Amino acid sequence: MSFVKRDAENGLGIKKGHRTHHWMAHRDSKCEDEAMKLNGKVVAVTGAGGGIGGALAKRFCDEGAKSVTLIDLDEQSAQQNADALSSPWFVCDVADEAALEEVIDRIEQDSGPIDLFCSNAGVGTAGGVDASNADWQRTWEINVMAQVYAARIMIPRMIARGGGYLLNTASAAGLLTNLGTAPYAVTKHGSVALSEWLAITHGDDGVVVSCLCPQGVNTAMLNDGVGELASDAVRAQGVIEPSEVADAVIDALDEERFLVLPHPEVARYEQNRAADHDRWISAMRGLQRQFGR
Ligand SMILES: NC(=O)c1ccc[n+]([C@@H]2O[C@H](COP(=O)([O-])OP(=O)(O)OC[C@H]3O[C@@H](n4cnc5c(N)ncnc54)[C@H](O)[C@@H]3O)[C@@H](O)[C@H]2O)c1
Repeated sequence: MSFVKRDAENGLGIKKGHRTHHWMAHRDSKCEDEAMKLNGKVVAVTGAGGGIGGALAKRFCDEGAKSVTLIDLDEQSAQQNADALSSPWFVCDVADEAALEEVIDRIEQDSGPIDLFCSNAGVGTAGGVDASNADWQRTWEINVMAQVYAARIMIPRMIARGGGYLLNTASAAGLLTNLGTAPYAVTKHGSVALSEWLAITHGDDGVVVSCLCPQGVNTAMLNDGVGELASDAVRAQGVIEPSEVADAVIDALDEERFLVLPHPEVARYEQNRAADHDRWISAMRGLQRQFGR
């Protein structure tokens, strides 16, 4: 098998749960119980062994989700985060469509229909067009295709049961750019574009889509995953903690808002870019010079 399932408590299997109300059922009672929206929900988070995914999983548990399953490529970190939450977890490469489908099948068998699927796993890849084809391809597969696969698997199921929620983690790099990391900036634009397309195409089917676009967050990716220039440039804009990203996500889910901006200034940067693209590129070139490259 291409993935491994573990139970956080006894290593023998995920505890069986009963079928819960799906997202749409809770949408109907939104006015009565807005703050409790995650209560009773079945949630899955990819990249949950890492900083942002781990914080999202914790926060969803705190909000009363019925089950939060952690999915990650890295067994040790997935197990560690899952143990702390007494949550089920799977080791899975989300860029392997068949493996991801198998994991989703297992989660739905064990915990019930997934109400909220968070495609959060991502990789930062330093370099420009000189980065190797293998690096470009792998970044594309994880940052974009894994979100395509999750949507392809989840959307027909969600439509059949009256609705559901997809949260895709992109980045402010997907709305703007990221100095020093072309594969990352390009694929994160792809993630934003995919999320927009899904929201437009499947909104009337009851599938709600949000797209998470933070700037710097204090995680392993920023600290050692994206290269010096990207990391320095992001740090200069201010770094927040993963728990603050989770706060912004909870607010956005409550409002069913498409764009999740844990750094609110990103909205202004995006408006500046749209208003005058040449001016924005000139400003970004100035920023790059400031970092001596
Ligand atoms: N940290 C930041 O500054 C920042 C800013 C904007 C967006 N993001 C995005 O947030 C998401 C989470 O990143 P993070 O900052 O928590 O980084 P992180 O490196 O701490 O966590 C990423 C997790 O994804 C897992 N992962 C990587 N490839 C995988 C695969 N193929 N299958 C399954 N799991 C895989 C890793 O093992 C890791 O646990 C990413 O999509 C990232 O691009 C991060």
